Amino acid sequence: MIIMPLNATKPVYQDNSQPIEKRVEDALQRMTLEEKVKLCTAQSKFSSHGVPRLGIPEVWMSDGPHGVRAEIEWNSWSHARWTNDSSTAFPALTCLAATFNPSLAHDYGVAVGEEARYRRKDILLGPGVNIYRTPLNGRNFEYMGEDPLLASRMAVPYIQGVQQNGVAACVKHFALNNQEEWRGHINVNVSDRALYEIYLPAFKASVEDAKVWSVMGAYNQFRGQHCCHNDLLLNKILKQDWKFDGVVVTDWGGAHDTRQAALNGLDIEMGSYTNGLTSEAEFGYNDYFLADPFLALLRKGELPVSVVDEKARRILRLIFRTAMNAERPFGRYVCADHSATALRVAEEGIVLLKNRHNLLPVQPGKYKRIAVIGENATKNLTEGGGSSELKVKYQVSPLEGLQKTYGAESIVHAMGYSSGPSVYGRVEEPAEDQQKLFDEAIEVARNAEIVFFVGGLNKNHYQDCEGGDRQQFGLPFNQEKLISEILKVNKNLVLVLVSGNAVAMPWEKELPAIVQTWYLGSESGNAIANVLSGKVNPSGKLPFSFPVKLTDNAAHSFGALSYPGDSINQHYKEDILVGYRWHDTKKIKPLFAFGHGLSYSKYEYGKITTDKKSYTKEEVIKLTFTLKNTGSVDGAEAVQIYSSQPRASVLRPQKELKAFEKIQLKAGETKTVEIAVNVKDLAFYNDKTQSWDVEAGEFIISNAASAGDVKSSVKILIR
Ligand code: BGC
Repeated sequence: MIIMPLNATKPVYQDNSQPIEKRVEDALQRMTLEEKVKLCTAQSKFSSHGVPRLGIPEVWMSDGPHGVRAEIEWNSWSHARWTNDSSTAFPALTCLAATFNPSLAHDYGVAVGEEARYRRKDILLGPGVNIYRTPLNGRNFEYMGEDPLLASRMAVPYIQGVQQNGVAACVKHFALNNQEEWRGHINVNVSDRALYEIYLPAFKASVEDAKVWSVMGAYNQFRGQHCCHNDLLLNKILKQDWKFDGVVVTDWGGAHDTRQAALNGLDIEMGSYTNGLTSEAEFGYNDYFLADPFLALLRKGELPVSVVDEKARRILRLIFRTAMNAERPFGRYVCADHSATALRVAEEGIVLLKNRHNLLPVQPGKYKRIAVIGENATKNLTEGGGSSELKVKYQVSPLEGLQKTYGAESIVHAMGYSSGPSVYGRVEEPAEDQQKLFDEAIEVARNAEIVFFVGGLNKNHYQDCEGGDRQQFGLPFNQEKLISEILKVNKNLVLVLVSGNAVAMPWEKELPAIVQTWYLGSESGNAIANVLSGKVNPSGKLPFSFPVKLTDNAAHSFGALSYPGDSINQHYKEDILVGYRWHDTKKIKPLFAFGHGLSYSKYEYGKITTDKKSYTKEEVIKLTFTLKNTGSVDGAEAVQIYSSQPRASVLRPQKELKAFEKIQLKAGETKTVEIAVNVKDLAFYNDKTQSWDVEAGEFIISNAASAGDVKSSVKILIR
């Protein structure tokens, strides 16, 4: 800190009452070339330089996106072993997306932002908005599903919520980081149309609508250039077209070249290393591409000073928005409100996939012998998974939640299988005797009146975990066989699927009830028990399609060059037909459709009507229909609006999500739902003219309970 005599006037850059741009220019003109360059690189694993001479602080960052990560050592990936950095674990972003409730995304952002602020972070590394392209992607759980509109509408309030704390959100990973396999180098080739229609919208909304203060580049390449210094993505699209005024941060180790980093839109370089993830000691921070090598080029005049000025301006702007923003609130940490938010998101995000003969809810007291089978009933699922790992103050396991609700004396738990520890980057064999676990589980199931099978994936390597993709679509750790054997002794089986991805379900027809419960964080067990027992009426909807088999998924329909690529290149051959766009257009029925989710109530949709029959391209379509809760419990339904254009000059998907809204309805209540859709949002991206075009002609607008359950449609004309 600079100590000033009492009567001295503050320099402009320190004066919070001055406009930020004035402060930025004032600070910049006081700085030496060396100081400007310093701003652009890391000084530790999770911080970058400030300008100590001017009292401009360092920038501190943390993962993200589901809570604030434990402190990491200055220059190693080990935990710093603080005793006061245990945070609240919020549900994974797939769960947040499944709520279809943007106002809950705002509450989530506020809460996680408050925790980040309390922990003195300036940037929270999230949200992740990469599109769910394949169910094998190990990081889908950190993202918001397969639909660009859903991901956009959920990301924007999350970001706004975080940033109202004076903490920058960092939307990631820009762009096309849709798999972990070969993520550091795979060169993605995708059409302009798919880029603009599918992969960019959530980033664009984050910049234009949420005004996000930082963006993280992706590890992979796009059209031959690494995304962390990609001229097209960063200079042209992000900074020029979208007018992004914040900071581009590399993914950790995502920079590869000084000139490209200098010229192609990168601002802060983090996590570079020469010799592997853990042994970078020989590679000092001064050797970073944007450190001494960058300074040398500037000094020699091989790069103009305007290049570093541009970066320094952005970084200063971020610092004035965060660390040097005297107005920012103080934040809060692990408090009752945050637990309540985590619980609400978890409860609203759980998806009831199937419920034959209303097996669920299971009221407390109904059964005296309940079997809870599966490792995920007790496994710590906030550990592991890669950078989104969390050290939590507390978490309620599914088993604990069920015991509280149904009484510990009514429950017998059997692991059934074990998976070994969650170790980053490798698989470690479990210590337990698997046959013994298997046999015990069958016996427990045989003697129970009902079985809750709490299984799925976990945060181990090759599961839902950064750094590798899943190796199989089926459930791992012998669970497929275990479930089919349990079904032979007990048909009253509820599958509580804990995962961030779709999985194969060969026994789906035999299972009476399936609940998709994601990774729910601190409040996991409470949320699961509340939904299973009926205290909470489920209202989550799937943010991605569940294919029957892997080759029913678009990316996997085109062989290895489409996924995972040939180790150098990859072509997104399905183009715009991602997720339900593929299933619908190609008439490949999914096991569970995008947007699907049941309730303990029933909702009756009235016929959709429009305010007019024909519209100009500038107009707004006003849609109206009634929605009635015909069941006997209060509930909420995420209604969805899809559009299609049956005859167009280009391929258009069978349908595309254009709007959604979560409607709360008391038992027996009817509401009139009014939703507006801009005609301009019916456009496709014309890669010949590089513009968004609405072609005149007939469109069909539908209201639907999911992509697989259209309730009614109306034809309109666009002129
Ligand atoms: C991940 C990022 C993360 C960063 C810092 C990278 O490996 O891809 O999502 O924010 O590490 O932990």
